[in-house]
Amino acid sequence: MDLQNKFALVTGGSKGIGRGIAEALVREGVQVCISARHQDEIDEAVEQLNQSGGGRALGFICDVRDYGQVKALVDHAVKELGGLDILINNAGIGIFETVEETSPEDFRAVLETNVCGVFYCCHEAIPQMKQRGGGYVINISSLAGVNAHPRMAAYNASKFGLNGFSEALMQEVRHDNIKVSYIMPGSVNTEFGGDLPSDEKSWQLTPEDIARVVVDLLHHDDRSLPSRVEIRPSKPPKK
Ligand SMILES: NC(=O)c1ccc[n+]([C@@H]2O[C@H](COP(=O)([O-])OP(=O)(O)OC[C@H]3O[C@@H](n4cnc5c(N)ncnc54)[C@H](OP(=O)(O)O)[C@@H]3O)[C@@H](O)[C@H]2O)c1
Repeated sequence: MDLQNKFALVTGGSKGIGRGIAEALVREGVQVCISARHQDEIDEAVEQLNQSGGGRALGFICDVRDYGQVKALVDHAVKELGGLDILINNAGIGIFETVEETSPEDFRAVLETNVCGVFYCCHEAIPQMKQRGGGYVINISSLAGVNAHPRMAAYNASKFGLNGFSEALMQEVRHDNIKVSYIMPGSVNTEFGGDLPSDEKSWQLTPEDIARVVVDLLHHDDRSLPSRVEIRPSKPPKK
């Protein structure tokens, strides 16, 4: 895909991996709409993104768990940008407790963000991509989508589910010139799960590492679709 003047939506683009992806896309000349739940963080990110050179950025507040808000987000992005070619489903949360400790509300929040939110965004974005003759959906999954761990049941369920959703969607829309890929990162140095990015975690991947994979995927020739990408820190601490 030639990225110059393409239109993209990055959910959860105010910080962490989404912010890194939005920055890389703007630098490639893409017009990017980011979304998240906190207006102050969106405003700060949009200001910085617009200093990256290349394309431009705008922002819109949206909780991806709410279908009405996602509809408004996609409408806004299409109206303000002029269309939609690329959807990066990045917004996600992790709550790491045993099944016994996990409240039904927290379990629902993880599934509604990481799975239902992705469905809502795809449901709204795909007709827009069809109107433009094609597009690209990239879902940010996790290695927790293939490896189960104690205290990760809700997160594992959401990312295993997201992988299945991505595979089915890929097969559904490939003949409409819409590509679907999902990326499964290992540990990335962000605020994810209430953590803080820190120097002690410098062995971890960075948002820029994931952004590089996104840009590489988008640059693949029309005939080629790397539909599932695993990326992990090369040297995690020895166990
Ligand atoms: N960090 C890792 O080690 C790692 C590893 C593998 C996969 N991942 C995946 O990568 C994605 C991004 O994670 P990250 O590490 O960048 O986390 P992060 O630093 O916590 O950023 C998460 C982003 O998503 C937004 N968000 C969260 N809930 C949302 C909701 N309901 N509606 C809209 N936006 C929402 C947040 O903004 P607001 O809070 O303002 O909404 C923020 O912009 C997630 O899908 C995560 O599962 C992360």
